Amino acid sequence: MEQDTKDDTDFVKFWNTILEPKFTKYRHILQGGLSRHSAAVIPSLPIKEGMSVLDVGCGWGDMSLQIAEIVGPKGRVVGIDCVDAFLVEARKDAAAKGLSHVEFFRGDAEVALPENEFDYVVARFGTMFFTNPVAALRRMRLALKPGGQMTHIVWRRREDNPAWQEAKEITLRHLPPPGEDADTCGPGPFSMGNQEMAGAMMKSAGYEDISFTRVDEKIMIGTTPEECIEFALAIGPGGEVFREAGEALAEAKRPGIESEMRAFFESQERDEIGIWAPTSSWVISARNPA
Ligand SMILES: C[S@@+](CC[C@H](N)C(=O)[O-])C[C@H]1O[C@@H](n2cnc3c(N)ncnc32)[C@H](O)[C@@H]1O
Repeated sequence: MEQDTKDDTDFVKFWNTILEPKFTKYRHILQGGLSRHSAAVIPSLPIKEGMSVLDVGCGWGDMSLQIAEIVGPKGRVVGIDCVDAFLVEARKDAAAKGLSHVEFFRGDAEVALPENEFDYVVARFGTMFFTNPVAALRRMRLALKPGGQMTHIVWRRREDNPAWQEAKEITLRHLPPPGEDADTCGPGPFSMGNQEMAGAMMKSAGYEDISFTRVDEKIMIGTTPEECIEFALAIGPGGEVFREAGEALAEAKRPGIESEMRAFFESQERDEIGIWAPTSSWVISARNPA
């Protein structure tokens, strides 16, 4: 099932070279935060013992493992991601939990997915990055058996996600916006935040019974203000502006950016774990016509 790395698109190369080390460094923040949006939702989905489930853009695979516990050994879970290093960790965690009915494969959901094989398809914060979202959502639908269901979780609008948006606005007060040909992780984290537009994409991809549930969660964005700043300048919309400005200009502007960011992060809720900021997502569920 694995795709050959020689066929990697520039997008997949970008994920494996530029984004992977940053994601790995901040796994404790990212996985902790993203899992807060799925933890409450997954047990209420109609995923049952014995089902086969595909997790698209599974990352480190923690949600695949949570689902593997629900479907049990009579079921099957497949996680697919385009980043090798994430899959190494996912396989390690599955082995440590003794879950042998979950497998992880390297694949590009924009190129190919298994067909007509699964009862349920899930994706947590992966689909907003697709360069051609309708085609990829259709491919996810075709991975389902007729009548199968899917659920994907995406960020809502920027204004409901100050944890990400404020870092971008601060950075943009000091640096120019990324140019048209900038290296990015795809259309961007908020590309499915508009309910009407995301609903239209799902319809165009051939789904029916499309529903949206809003989830609001505070997530930990760094253990200290210093880590919040490092994280915001490495990953997400603020990090993209900082990276694309070029090292010389970005470093020259760093003191001003850091001082504004510090004021923002220090104004957020803080406890013994770290600093918390509000985020908001859509849980979008739908069905492949029978
Ligand atoms: C924000 S991360 C979320 C990871 C994981 N689902 C989670 O919630 O922790 C987005 C993931 O989508 C993966 N991804 C992006 N585009 C992909 C594609 N075309 N095919 C497969 N995986 C993709 C990335 O490698 C990354 O692991």
